[in-house]
Amino acid sequence: MSRVHAVVSRSVCLVAALFASELSAQELAFTAEQMERGQQLYVSNCAACHLPSLQGAFEAPALRGSNFQNQWQGRPVSDLHTLISETMPAQSPGSLTVQQNTDIVAYLLSQNELSPASAALQADSTAPLFADADGPAAASSVAAVQEQRTPLPGFPGTIRSPEARDRAPEVGTLFSTDTSTTHMYQQADHFRNVTSSELASPADADWTYWRKNPQSHGYSPLDQINKENVTDLSLAWVWGMEPGRSQPGPLVRSGVMFVPNAGNVIQALDAASGTILWEYRRVFADGGGDGALLRTLAMWEDMIYVATADAHLVALDARTGQVRWEVEIADDAKGFGNTSGPIVADGIVINGINGCQQFQLESCFITGHEGTPAKKSGEHSPFSNMGLGLRIRGEDFPRNSGVAGMSGFPVAGIRRPGWCSLV
Ligand code: HEC
Repeated sequence: MSRVHAVVSRSVCLVAALFASELSAQELAFTAEQMERGQQLYVSNCAACHLPSLQGAFEAPALRGSNFQNQWQGRPVSDLHTLISETMPAQSPGSLTVQQNTDIVAYLLSQNELSPASAALQADSTAPLFADADGPAAASSVAAVQEQRTPLPGFPGTIRSPEARDRAPEVGTLFSTDTSTTHMYQQADHFRNVTSSELASPADADWTYWRKNPQSHGYSPLDQINKENVTDLSLAWVWGMEPGRSQPGPLVRSGVMFVPNAGNVIQALDAASGTILWEYRRVFADGGGDGALLRTLAMWEDMIYVATADAHLVALDARTGQVRWEVEIADDAKGFGNTSGPIVADGIVINGINGCQQFQLESCFITGHEGTPAKKSGEHSPFSNMGLGLRIRGEDFPRNSGVAGMSGFPVAGIRRPGWCSLV
């Protein structure tokens, strides 16, 4: 009895082995129906992250093109099916059926230059993926990569290297100083200079102060989004910010968004598509500054002002991110630094220093620097109260009196022991 059983099971094995080798010899095939069903499933379950074009965004990689094909070339189609079944959609892995995932794989194949046929795709097919993707196809994909020189929406600059998704971009103009590097990928040509009168009364579509206007109203008069349609809002793009504590108030001008990131990394993004235009990265003398918090920036004319964690004030060219000038506000070795971000009034960059909670002799103070572009680095001597103290509403405040940790508060946060005032 046991002998018969053994013979039967061996022949079953043989049949299975034959069947498998027949399959692997098969071309990769899927039907038009599978592809169409897969497309609908893709749109509702995957496109939010990988984009309707399959080009990928942010951390979700492209699911078409040479990177994707190189990644999967020669591997059995069942591996791709398994990966999708077990890990995707990223927010609810395993939520789709075997058949639905098979249809999605068929759709992905159709988007990678494979045509539907009469034979249906099976989830456990061992047929190798993109087996023919060498020779002429590989040559043409190299050409495509070379053409693609400008940044993609949601990616940290230009194209990603195939090996490392998150690697720093390869293409861009590099400007460097002793204290920074700027990568410029695309000049923000459409940025229009911001005059003092525009700062005083910003255009509806702009957000040129940390709270929109000098009165800090924080109110946008734009009315395209309203009570009726707010529920229809959906994700337009995602941008991965620098790791660290983050409480930024970005600024927007002429469709360019300026974002202060942790670590004093300042980025200019195309606000419509999330494409990076340039990135300024602070280099700290002691290598530190990681996660340094900066809540906002200021802008005036064609400059973006950055108050750095190591107590400097930097003016960047709004179109390229290149450093125009830089001054030391205070000695960071004594614990001084910036977290709030400056504001501009009448061409003066007003900043409240931080890091002086220790109440040492030299305590916190507010500075005003001329924002003018004319001077070179080092020539921007502060015009006001370094050492002078402040006189507000007829009352003298000693210089050692202000701690400015919050944006917009360099003036509002004047303080002296036992006495608090908002002005
Ligand atoms: C919430 C966002 C999100 C959704 C929705 C999503 N993915 Fe992903 N997907 C990702 C991320 C992020 C990765 C990268 C994961 C990693 O590298 O560990 C990824 C990776 C992949 C990969 C691996 C690609 C490669 O080249 O290695 C495939 C294939 C994939 N996703 C397919 C899908 C499919 C099919 C769907 C829909 C059923 C889907 N994803 C839905 C975010 C998402």
